[in-house]
Amino acid sequence: MSETASETASTTPITTIANLAQHEGQSVTLQGWLYNLRESGKLLFPIFRDGSGTIQGIVPKAAVSAEVFERIKTLTQESSVIVRGKVRADKRAPGGFELDVEDLQVVHRVPEDVAYPISLKEHGVDFLMEHRHLWIRTPRQSAILRIRAEIMRAAQEHFDTHGFTRTDPPILTPAACEGTSTLFPVDYFGDEAYLTQSGQLYIESTAMALGKVYSFGPTFRAEKSKTRRHLTEFWMIEPEIAFADLDDLMTLAEEFLSHIVQRVLVNRSAELKVIGRDTAKLESIRPPFPRVTYDEAAKMLEEAFKQGKIEQKFEYGNDFGSPDETYISSQFDRPVMVHRYPANIKAFYMEPDPANAELALCVDVLAPEGYGEIIGGSQRIASYDLLKHRIEEHGLPLAPFQWYLDLRRYGSVPHAGFGMGIERAVAWICGLDHVRETIPFARTLNRIYP
Ligand code: 4AD
Ligand code: MG
Repeated sequence: MSETASETASTTPITTIANLAQHEGQSVTLQGWLYNLRESGKLLFPIFRDGSGTIQGIVPKAAVSAEVFERIKTLTQESSVIVRGKVRADKRAPGGFELDVEDLQVVHRVPEDVAYPISLKEHGVDFLMEHRHLWIRTPRQSAILRIRAEIMRAAQEHFDTHGFTRTDPPILTPAACEGTSTLFPVDYFGDEAYLTQSGQLYIESTAMALGKVYSFGPTFRAEKSKTRRHLTEFWMIEPEIAFADLDDLMTLAEEFLSHIVQRVLVNRSAELKVIGRDTAKLESIRPPFPRVTYDEAAKMLEEAFKQGKIEQKFEYGNDFGSPDETYISSQFDRPVMVHRYPANIKAFYMEPDPANAELALCVDVLAPEGYGEIIGGSQRIASYDLLKHRIEEHGLPLAPFQWYLDLRRYGSVPHAGFGMGIERAVAWICGLDHVRETIPFARTLNRIYP
């Protein structure tokens, strides 16, 4: 590095764009990349980004040496740089500040012949996904990733401050949790194992050891669906509570989701602004959430069909399709908790409703604005005999479930839990039309690159 660069570093504080308010009127050093460059007569307007934000620099020809002016003028998009400049408040600037550039050192100049593929014009989504490793550098994508991180933090924080212990289930498993049609098989030293679809079965056992637990990690579904809500690899956070019933679970779900949304509103307001999210729709997310039974939801759909508000007739007994979920959720200004679905369309481990054994004590939380199911959960079967019967009924082998049956052999208790897919929550909170932008590198039916 040249002498000027080390001088720069030693004479001015190195800071980040997010922290510029603390340095108003001072000269600072920023380390980042050239996001864009405009030129107007004898003025250059480079826009820098450093991961914490973006800022526009101003370079009048007379203010810097001829050499520095030329260096900036010929700078290529996404070249990495160390910039020294004076922080000036400007009400019109998106971040509130501009930088009067005094000096700039190039760390790595992007050569013209490999020009940065993502220009500031519109690109198709396939092209952008193919260049996802670079696309995440744009302000909108990095804002989404910061909101994602906040959602993950707030989700853990809620459980950590409510007496839950995080216990991590295995990712390689010998048995199916959520049906056998979406398993990813793995060759486990000659035996067939699977990537986990959910940590639930394991955290049911840690709940019997620790009372209130949660797990948080990647989960896998060999989903053949090509929808805007499905990934083959996604992150799920799952609480599980001993001595809890369905009502306790719904209360936890509404408090948990409200906490997350309120945290994002407070801590990520700048990012919500960058992505243009209508935050009025998030302000109302506070308990209590409406609770409707499957039967009531089915009647709503029947009525809506009669009035021509939905195109497809809903058949009682089926699971809700995505247009059905959209219609149901559109009737409320906060997430709606639909409980007591027919047992035969739900997972094998769900406790039947004592009032009607055809129904399962389960809940799906449907997000507002048509985002569909973001949480799925239930009370679990406590009886050994019934659980064994259900495993057999679902055509599952008993051997890999013996340990799971042990939980009903030794001090079985009523217990309940749910799972929330982080990406679905991010899509809703950010108001995105597809989950592919909610995770750094989406894995879908037709994408495993980059
Ligand atoms: O409803 P699911 O399948 O429930 C379970 O896995 C339970 N074992 C969880 C539990 O009770 N501990 O999945 C839970 C959530 C869904 O509501 C959704 O948010 C997300 O996981 N999810 C997916 N997200 C993205 N892509 C997929 N293919 C998803 N499948 C489920
Ligand atoms: Mg579900």
